Amino acid sequence: MISLKNVHKAFGSKEILRGVDLDVAKGESCVIIGGSGTGKSVMLKCILGLIKPDQGMISVAGEDITTTGDRDAFLARFGMLFQGAALFDSLPVWQNVAFRLLRGSLKRPKAEARDIAIEKLRRVGLGPDVADLFPAELSGGMQKRVGLARAIAADPEIIFFDEPTTGLDPIMAGVINELIREIVVEMGATALTITHDMTSVRAIADKVAMLHGGKIRWHGPVSEMDGADDPYLTQFITGSPDGPIETLR
Ligand SMILES: Nc1ncnc2c1ncn2[C@@H]1O[C@H](COP(=O)(O)OP(=O)(O)OP(=O)(O)O)[C@@H](O)[C@H]1O
Ligand SMILES: [Mg+2]
Repeated sequence: MISLKNVHKAFGSKEILRGVDLDVAKGESCVIIGGSGTGKSVMLKCILGLIKPDQGMISVAGEDITTTGDRDAFLARFGMLFQGAALFDSLPVWQNVAFRLLRGSLKRPKAEARDIAIEKLRRVGLGPDVADLFPAELSGGMQKRVGLARAIAADPEIIFFDEPTTGLDPIMAGVINELIREIVVEMGATALTITHDMTSVRAIADKVAMLHGGKIRWHGPVSEMDGADDPYLTQFITGSPDGPIETLR
């Protein structure tokens, strides 16, 4: 469903991605882990076509993302949660959630779009009273959940989550992990999630991929993660300050 081959990306002289190879099968939940600043968000933005890689090949659902014709129709199949939620300040919550249902190829009647928005808000633990508030009136964790509701609003086939549980309390993080799992299992969606939260990794991943040094350093089933013989991976999952990973950045 998602395939990256030898993807490179530098910003000036800073090489961030140095040959990333990754394959995610249809209906699989893949979680990307790795230190802060290793290029996880950059990699996701490359897949979405928001950043153009310097080299390499990226295909989603069998289409080369750089040459695909109808970009609007192509993106309509995706849902995305950005790391900073990235809500539209001037729109009330429900219009943020229903954003894509109010325009373009997915357009619905306004009342129907609002009903869908309220249902998706419920899925992320927010009541209907939140629908008419503006993003500035919400806490950080609530904004995150609105971003998540927006990502799933159009029942996408492929979903990308950048740090879905960061900034949430442990119970709400558990609710969101369960929701991600449900979307993959019930809707058969393919999910690519970035997270630092190891509880979340164990709750949602089928496969785990660790990004380090601009490459996928380890990739395998979550069940093999703890027993893996890779000092970088082990240091990361145990959160140890001692090990091969450079902590000065
Ligand atoms: N648009 C940009 N222009 C220049 N440099 C960028 C740009 N986007 C990201 N970078 C740089 O690329 C590196 C990787 O950034 P990225 O956001 O992918 O990190 P990350 O792995 O997602 O980290 P975190 O876990 O903290 O979110 C950083 O050094 C960052 O400064
Ligand atoms: Mg990031």
